[in-house]
Amino acid sequence: MRSPLSCCNRMRTFWDIELRDLRLGYGETVVLENFSAVLPAGKISVILGGSGSGKSTLLRHIIGLARPLSGQILLGGQDLFALPPKAFRRIRRRMGVLFQDGALLGSLTLGENVALPLAEHTRLSPDDIRAIVRHTLFLVNLAGFAGYYPSELSGGMRKRAGLARALVTLPPLLLCDEPTSGLDPVNAAQMDALLLTMKKRFPDMTIVTVSHDMASVRALADHILVLADKTVAYAGDLDGLQKTANPYLRLFLDRAAPREDDGAPCPAAADLDPAVRGRMAEALDSWLESR
Ligand SMILES: Nc1ncnc2c1ncn2[C@@H]1O[C@H](COP(=O)(O)OP(=O)(O)OP(=O)(O)O)[C@@H](O)[C@H]1O
Ligand SMILES: [Mg+2]
Repeated sequence: MRSPLSCCNRMRTFWDIELRDLRLGYGETVVLENFSAVLPAGKISVILGGSGSGKSTLLRHIIGLARPLSGQILLGGQDLFALPPKAFRRIRRRMGVLFQDGALLGSLTLGENVALPLAEHTRLSPDDIRAIVRHTLFLVNLAGFAGYYPSELSGGMRKRAGLARALVTLPPLLLCDEPTSGLDPVNAAQMDALLLTMKKRFPDMTIVTVSHDMASVRALADHILVLADKTVAYAGDLDGLQKTANPYLRLFLDRAAPREDDGAPCPAAADLDPAVRGRMAEALDSWLESR
């Protein structure tokens, strides 16, 4: 399948996330320590752990919103917190982030919310932006909702809209904090299926998602980090996790019955007009490289 990302030079780099000897916390409080791990490019990594175990804290550091107490975070081989300010700002443009509540602006329509990163940062024409927004909303099953305000949408729709906004700049790194929390099981399964669809559509993308839900882990995870006792208690695939004798990890595993869910097939989306795609690639490249 042809991915809109494949036309962009910047996607040729594989954006592994490498966590090296990390110690994370706030002021005097240490939340996570003594761990190293790699979240591989082109895979879905799920960060799993109980409430307060530090999942959002880890994500916040990977995004660059907080600086580690010690250790390094390497994105595509670049040491995030050793970068000069300009390069730091540039690398953050390569991240699409879905916050827990979707973080949409209530005074803007869905279309305007999704258009925002392109309208603010690129020189794309309003017509091109409209076409890209329409296409991105289609990808997240929100075709036809561009004119709705966030308050007119369900929680699940708001999360999918947040995903559309995170994806509209075609980031090589997609980070999601509990994309299924607060959703009923049907909507939660749809969100999981959507992330699987995104993985198929954007095969180079590094997707990291936070969950406390084993159903999502079973549906999605190529790679799993379990946080417990202020550190990474497990890093590896689902098979390895399923074989663990660690009583804490077993608690997670045995709570939910396995489900068979290979995700939904990719939507047979009408692809974005190649001319618009070309202009989008150029505009995004020029934004990514700008000062
Ligand atoms: N801004 C902050 N300042 C100080 N401490 C914080 C801050 N944010 C989180 N913490 C603390 O860090 C610890 C981990 O919180 P975090 O939000 O990362 O957990 P979590 O695993 O995401 O939990 P949940 O599943 O409930 O979202 C908690 O003890 C929390 O009180
Ligand atoms: Mg959290």
